[in-house]
Amino acid sequence: MKRLGMGLVGPGFVARHHIDAVRRLGDVDVVAVAGSSQASADKKAREYKVDRAYGDYHDLIADPAIHVIHNTTPNYLHLPVTLAALAAGKHVISDKPLAINPAEGREMRDAAIAAGVAHVVTFNYRGNPLVQQARGMVAKGESGDLSFVHGHYLQDWMADANVYSWRSDPAKGGATSALGDIGSHWCDLAEHVSGLKIVSVLADLTTVIPVRYSAGASAEAFSTKGGADRQAVNVQSEDLASVLLRFDNGAKGSFSVGQVLPGHKNDLVLEVNGRKLSLKWKQEQQNELWIGHYNRANALLAKDPSLVSEEALRYTHLPGGHQESWADAFCNLMRDAYGWIHAGGKAETKPSMLPTFEDGYRSVCLVDAMLRSHRAGSVWEPVQYTAAGA
Ligand SMILES: NC(=O)c1ccc[n+]([C@@H]2O[C@H](COP(=O)([O-])OP(=O)(O)OC[C@H]3O[C@@H](n4cnc5c(N)ncnc54)[C@H](O)[C@@H]3O)[C@@H](O)[C@H]2O)c1
Repeated sequence: MKRLGMGLVGPGFVARHHIDAVRRLGDVDVVAVAGSSQASADKKAREYKVDRAYGDYHDLIADPAIHVIHNTTPNYLHLPVTLAALAAGKHVISDKPLAINPAEGREMRDAAIAAGVAHVVTFNYRGNPLVQQARGMVAKGESGDLSFVHGHYLQDWMADANVYSWRSDPAKGGATSALGDIGSHWCDLAEHVSGLKIVSVLADLTTVIPVRYSAGASAEAFSTKGGADRQAVNVQSEDLASVLLRFDNGAKGSFSVGQVLPGHKNDLVLEVNGRKLSLKWKQEQQNELWIGHYNRANALLAKDPSLVSEEALRYTHLPGGHQESWADAFCNLMRDAYGWIHAGGKAETKPSMLPTFEDGYRSVCLVDAMLRSHRAGSVWEPVQYTAAGA
């Protein structure tokens, strides 16, 4: 099989996991990384054991050995990097959120379709085997019609006011913080598992920590390092939010997100309640799926190849009792992405689990509706989204 060359722009926190995942595939060469400067790219290339380093992402995109561009830059750079890669006819795997507003998301979705290349957004929780198990059970009618879809995505890494990075800067992270950063994951997962679409939202946003202390422009996303010369910055974006949801089948829903909630590390929970049964998946106990009944005992389905459905088996790699993890699910997404690219990246051959720029654009529209709702005084707002070709 032909080997593919991968180049990554934005070698920070999540970049390491993109590189690890594609290395596990066995038929992808990590050719180069591009950073914010030559010095930074050189340093990261050494750290990630990549041979080539570019100080300007345009040079990486022009490298003929690179077929697939991974975009893991801060949110405000997703648009220029991705459009440049698409203009060069390269396949693009972008991290979420796809864009910082719906107009940019739509432009990227349209450009990707016009380019005729593969386009993927890393809504990586879809890659968990028991997420696919739940999705299959709902799709096959085992849950019955869904009436309620709810949960949360709670973290605590921003509980320290000394955490300040591009994520809290509207010019670089976008107008939203927690909703765009992790609410986007939750909503994508809710729609993916339920097979439903969110049609309107009512949101209440809060900034629990309105003043943060910046260590300067180079502060990395999860760093609290820095001296006494930190600068106070007024934060405008939300670090806590609760949202009511209405789905296209009439189902109701709700979720909360927060990144300042002590003790919650990566606490993503999704529950769907059907007329026949309920399903609950917790990211922090991702090898179990809770199945709720009203006329018999509830069950816990273990991620075991002999117990899971065909849909889940495809993403299950270890025997029962052998825990699979965040990185394995991330790799599952990359395996489908590169399988799709090997097959030509055409819409008709896309694996059904794989999230594309269509999903990325839709996600930005969902968060935009939540921001509009909050600004209008927490009233119901419709999701304004234009499907491809509409
Ligand atoms: N899928 C997930 O679960 C997940 C997890 C974390 C982050 N993310 C997303 O990944 C993206 C990056 O987040 P992160 O946490 O890794 O941030 P980060 O700050 O750790 O990394 C960003 C990197 O981009 C580099 N960069 C800045 N300007 C650049 C330029 N002009 N050219 C090339 N590189 C440049 C920075 O130097 C840094 O190394 C964000 O969009 C974020 O939302 C997704």
